[in-house]
Amino acid sequence: MGNISLLQKKDTEIIMKLYRECFDHAFWIQEGKLNESVFDAPDFCEEASLLIRDEAAGEPAGCIAVKTSNDQKLYPDTAWITLLMVRSGYRRRGMGRCLYEMSEKILREKGIRKIYIGQDFANLFSGIPSPKRENEEFFRSCGFILNKDEHYDLEADIVNNNKIDDFDTMEFEKEFITGILKKEDSSGLLDFLKEEFPGRWEYEAKAYLGNAGKLENIIIMKSAADDAILGYCMTAVHEGGTGGLGPVGIARSIRGRHAGEYILRQSLVQLRRLGAERVCIDWTILKDFYGQFDFLPVRTFRSGYKEL
Ligand SMILES: CC(C)(COP(=O)(O)OP(=O)(O)OC[C@H]1O[C@@H](n2cnc3c(N)ncnc32)[C@H](O)[C@@H]1OP(=O)(O)O)[C@@H](O)C(=O)NCCC(=O)NCCS
Repeated sequence: MGNISLLQKKDTEIIMKLYRECFDHAFWIQEGKLNESVFDAPDFCEEASLLIRDEAAGEPAGCIAVKTSNDQKLYPDTAWITLLMVRSGYRRRGMGRCLYEMSEKILREKGIRKIYIGQDFANLFSGIPSPKRENEEFFRSCGFILNKDEHYDLEADIVNNNKIDDFDTMEFEKEFITGILKKEDSSGLLDFLKEEFPGRWEYEAKAYLGNAGKLENIIIMKSAADDAILGYCMTAVHEGGTGGLGPVGIARSIRGRHAGEYILRQSLVQLRRLGAERVCIDWTILKDFYGQFDFLPVRTFRSGYKEL
């Protein structure tokens, strides 16, 4: 079948080459991102991450990179497939299955009970990228259950964007106050998240604040009447004018009245102020909601999991 060895940081160059062969241009990443998502990630699982080489030619043919949960409360006995790929010339020879099965065996021995395709912290993919027959059937044949709906990464130009400029904020301003999170509101934000969005969103905000993340990247919405926090939005600005937005969420009590659009608009304005030009909203099914500000899908995924 092939020679299998542990996947190691010294293989970065090999992985980058395989990656460019295996994934569409829209998914391409820099080496720094690979290291951040795989080898330098605190939950990277060395023992279950493998490289396969063609026996005769000795050249790398594919690999699997896996992470295991460090948080038993949020993700008990959970692992994630961060990356799994086989070069096109070596496909349909059982190499992908061999990598997966060897990795799964090690994960079982470690007590893992659930495996997700992507969706890890600091992930490369939020599901199967560009889902089509070949990669979907592969995961089904390995026992994964795939989600019926696809989801997307969306992108928009926020500089030349009339939808942001023309948004009428007047009615919302009577009821809500939006602004950058102030230090003294940090614990109030965490209480809000615990109540409205317990789980990953709460966990990630706590980690962000705990690591002294910049407050200018968090927008909150308060009630003008009693100062209660009613919504929040996380943003990020990267080098070169790209930005990220999300999660964004508002209290159940004010849903259905376009308040979500308002905080989204205010957050896009803040991203502009911070110098972002093109913004990505990843891992969402809400094409129409974000489409109001001209966000369009640039990458498509289908999520899936397997219970062991
Ligand atoms: C998904 C991928 C890793 C599969 O690798 P592979 O080595 O070709 O897969 P295998 O030969 O082990 O296939 C195992 C089973 O999967 C299914 N399968 C794989 N490719 C298939 C295809 N093109 N059409 C239908 N079924 C397919 C089959 O059931 C196959 O068993 P069989 O050959 O006995 O019928 C490979 O296609 C790939 O690298 N794709 C691009 C990267 C990607 O999308 N990765 C996933 C997320 S990180």
